[in-house]
Amino acid sequence: MINPVLRMGDPRLLRVSRPVERFDTAELHALIHDMQDTMAHLNGAGLAAPQIGVDLRVVIFGVEANPRYPLVEPVPYTVLINPILEQLTQEEDEAWEGCLSVPGMRGVVPRVTALRYSGYDQYGQPIEREVSGFHARVVQHECDHLDGILYPMRIRDFSRFGFTEELFPDGSVAGDD
Ligand code: NI
Repeated sequence: MINPVLRMGDPRLLRVSRPVERFDTAELHALIHDMQDTMAHLNGAGLAAPQIGVDLRVVIFGVEANPRYPLVEPVPYTVLINPILEQLTQEEDEAWEGCLSVPGMRGVVPRVTALRYSGYDQYGQPIEREVSGFHARVVQHECDHLDGILYPMRIRDFSRFGFTEELFPDGSVAGDD
Protein backbone atom coordinates (compact mmCIF):
# COMPACT_ATOMS: atom_id res chain seq x y z
CA MET A 1 0.00 0.00 0.00
CA ILE A 2 1.31 3.45 -0.89
CA ASN A 3 1.73 5.46 2.31
CA PRO A 4 2.06 9.21 2.75
CA VAL A 5 5.67 10.30 3.22
CA LEU A 6 6.31 12.55 6.21
CA ARG A 7 7.89 15.90 5.41
CA MET A 8 10.69 17.73 7.18
CA GLY A 9 9.24 19.46 10.23
CA ASP A 10 7.30 16.40 11.34
CA PRO A 11 8.83 15.43 14.70
CA ARG A 12 8.56 11.72 13.84
CA LEU A 13 11.42 12.21 11.38
CA LEU A 14 13.69 13.24 14.25
CA ARG A 15 13.33 10.12 16.39
CA VAL A 16 16.03 7.53 16.93
CA SER A 17 14.33 4.38 15.66
CA ARG A 18 14.16 1.07 17.50
CA PRO A 19 15.86 -2.13 16.36
CA VAL A 20 13.72 -4.86 14.81
CA GLU A 21 13.61 -7.79 17.24
CA ARG A 22 11.68 -10.42 15.26
CA PHE A 23 12.24 -11.26 11.61
CA ASP A 24 10.08 -12.98 9.01
CA THR A 25 6.84 -11.84 10.65
CA ALA A 26 3.65 -10.78 8.89
CA GLU A 27 4.04 -7.29 10.33
CA LEU A 28 7.58 -6.89 9.05
CA HIS A 29 6.68 -8.19 5.58
CA ALA A 30 3.72 -5.81 5.45
CA LEU A 31 5.99 -2.90 6.37
CA ILE A 32 8.47 -3.83 3.63
CA HIS A 33 5.67 -4.10 1.07
CA ASP A 34 4.34 -0.67 2.04
CA MET A 35 7.83 0.80 1.78
CA GLN A 36 8.38 -0.83 -1.63
CA ASP A 37 5.05 0.43 -2.96
CA THR A 38 5.70 3.93 -1.66
CA MET A 39 9.25 4.13 -3.01
CA ALA A 40 8.22 2.80 -6.42
CA HIS A 41 5.26 5.18 -6.64
CA LEU A 42 7.54 8.16 -5.97
CA ASN A 43 10.43 6.82 -8.07
CA GLY A 44 12.74 7.12 -5.08
CA ALA A 45 16.24 5.70 -4.71
CA GLY A 46 15.59 4.72 -1.13
CA LEU A 47 13.17 4.95 1.76
CA ALA A 48 13.50 4.57 5.51
CA ALA A 49 10.69 3.32 7.75
CA PRO A 50 10.56 6.58 9.76
CA GLN A 51 9.57 8.38 6.55
CA ILE A 52 6.22 6.58 6.70
CA GLY A 53 5.96 7.10 10.44
CA VAL A 54 7.31 3.73 11.61
CA ASP A 55 10.14 4.04 14.13
CA LEU A 56 11.97 0.83 13.24
CA ARG A 57 15.50 0.44 11.89
CA VAL A 58 14.47 -0.62 8.39
CA VAL A 59 15.62 0.90 5.11
CA ILE A 60 15.20 -0.11 1.49
CA PHE A 61 17.13 1.22 -1.47
CA GLY A 62 18.01 0.42 -5.04
CA VAL A 63 18.57 2.15 -8.33
CA GLU A 64 18.10 0.33 -11.61
CA ALA A 65 18.27 2.37 -14.80
CA ASN A 66 16.10 5.04 -13.20
CA PRO A 67 15.26 7.74 -15.76
CA ARG A 68 15.63 10.30 -12.99
CA TYR A 69 19.22 9.23 -12.35
CA PRO A 70 20.64 8.80 -15.85
CA LEU A 71 24.24 9.29 -14.77
CA VAL A 72 24.41 7.31 -11.54
CA GLU A 73 25.64 3.77 -11.19
CA PRO A 74 23.00 1.13 -10.41
CA VAL A 75 22.60 -0.04 -6.82
CA PRO A 76 21.15 -3.50 -6.14
CA TYR A 77 17.72 -3.50 -4.58
CA THR A 78 18.29 -4.12 -0.87
CA VAL A 79 16.25 -4.48 2.30
CA LEU A 80 18.53 -3.59 5.21
CA ILE A 81 17.45 -3.97 8.83
CA ASN A 82 19.34 -2.98 12.00
CA PRO A 83 22.22 -1.67 9.90
CA ILE A 84 25.73 -1.04 11.16
CA LEU A 85 27.99 1.21 9.08
CA GLU A 86 31.78 1.28 9.36
CA GLN A 87 33.63 3.84 7.34
CA LEU A 88 36.63 2.45 5.43
CA THR A 89 38.27 5.77 4.66
CA GLN A 90 38.42 9.34 5.89
CA GLU A 91 37.96 10.52 2.33
CA GLU A 92 34.77 12.39 1.53
CA ASP A 93 33.20 13.56 -1.67
CA GLU A 94 30.35 15.92 -2.38
CA ALA A 95 27.24 15.35 -4.47
CA TRP A 96 23.71 16.61 -4.82
CA GLU A 97 21.09 14.84 -2.75
CA GLY A 98 17.36 15.05 -2.46
CA CYS A 99 14.88 13.37 -0.15
CA LEU A 100 11.24 12.39 -0.44
CA SER A 101 10.78 14.10 2.95
CA VAL A 102 12.23 17.37 1.60
CA PRO A 103 10.27 17.59 -1.66
CA GLY A 104 11.36 19.90 -4.44
CA MET A 105 14.80 20.66 -3.01
CA ARG A 106 18.41 19.60 -3.50
CA GLY A 107 21.61 20.17 -1.59
CA VAL A 108 25.27 19.27 -1.84
CA VAL A 109 26.18 16.86 0.95
CA PRO A 110 29.64 15.58 1.93
CA ARG A 111 29.74 11.83 2.51
CA VAL A 112 32.43 9.25 3.21
CA THR A 113 33.36 7.55 -0.07
CA ALA A 114 33.73 3.94 1.11
CA LEU A 115 32.18 1.91 3.88
CA ARG A 116 31.24 -1.55 5.06
CA TYR A 117 27.65 -2.14 6.03
CA SER A 118 26.07 -5.07 7.75
CA GLY A 119 22.61 -5.96 8.93
CA TYR A 120 19.80 -8.35 8.07
CA ASP A 121 17.15 -8.79 5.44
CA GLN A 122 13.47 -9.27 6.32
CA TYR A 123 14.01 -13.03 6.78
CA GLY A 124 16.84 -12.50 9.25
CA GLN A 125 19.57 -13.46 6.78
CA PRO A 126 22.76 -11.52 7.40
CA ILE A 127 23.99 -8.99 4.85
CA GLU A 128 27.53 -7.62 4.68
CA ARG A 129 28.94 -5.51 1.86
CA GLU A 130 31.80 -3.15 1.16
CA VAL A 131 30.69 -0.37 -1.14
CA SER A 132 31.82 2.97 -2.50
CA GLY A 133 30.57 5.86 -4.56
CA PHE A 134 26.85 6.34 -5.07
CA HIS A 135 25.97 3.07 -3.32
CA ALA A 136 27.83 4.25 -0.20
CA ARG A 137 26.11 7.62 -0.40
CA VAL A 138 22.62 6.13 -0.62
CA VAL A 139 23.25 3.86 2.38
CA GLN A 140 24.50 6.79 4.48
CA HIS A 141 21.50 8.92 3.53
CA GLU A 142 18.95 6.19 4.33
CA CYS A 143 20.60 5.06 7.57
CA ASP A 144 20.79 8.68 8.75
CA HIS A 145 16.98 8.64 8.76
CA LEU A 146 17.10 5.94 11.46
CA ASP A 147 18.92 8.36 13.74
CA GLY A 148 16.65 11.29 13.00
CA ILE A 149 19.09 12.99 10.62
CA LEU A 150 17.86 14.58 7.39
CA TYR A 151 20.36 15.51 4.67
CA PRO A 152 20.02 19.29 5.19
CA MET A 153 21.57 18.74 8.63
CA ARG A 154 24.72 17.49 6.84
CA ILE A 155 25.07 20.46 4.49
CA ARG A 156 28.11 22.67 5.08
CA ASP A 157 27.72 25.12 2.20
CA PHE A 158 24.19 26.48 2.13
CA SER A 159 24.86 28.35 -1.11
CA ARG A 160 24.39 24.93 -2.68
CA PHE A 161 20.98 24.17 -1.20
CA GLY A 162 17.75 25.21 -2.83
CA PHE A 163 14.76 24.44 -4.95
CA THR A 164 15.40 21.89 -7.68
CA GLU A 165 13.66 23.94 -10.35
CA GLU A 166 15.80 27.00 -9.56
CA LEU A 167 19.08 25.09 -9.23
CA PHE A 168 18.52 23.09 -12.43
CA PRO A 169 16.33 25.25 -14.70
CA ASP A 170 17.23 23.07 -17.68
CA GLY A 171 15.36 20.21 -16.05
CA SER A 172 18.48 18.05 -15.94
CA VAL A 173 17.53 17.06 -12.41
CA ALA A 174 13.88 16.48 -11.70
CA GLY A 175 11.78 14.94 -8.99
CA ASP A 176 11.99 15.00 -5.26
CA ASP A 177 14.33 12.30 -4.03
NI1 NI B 1 15.72 10.76 2.56
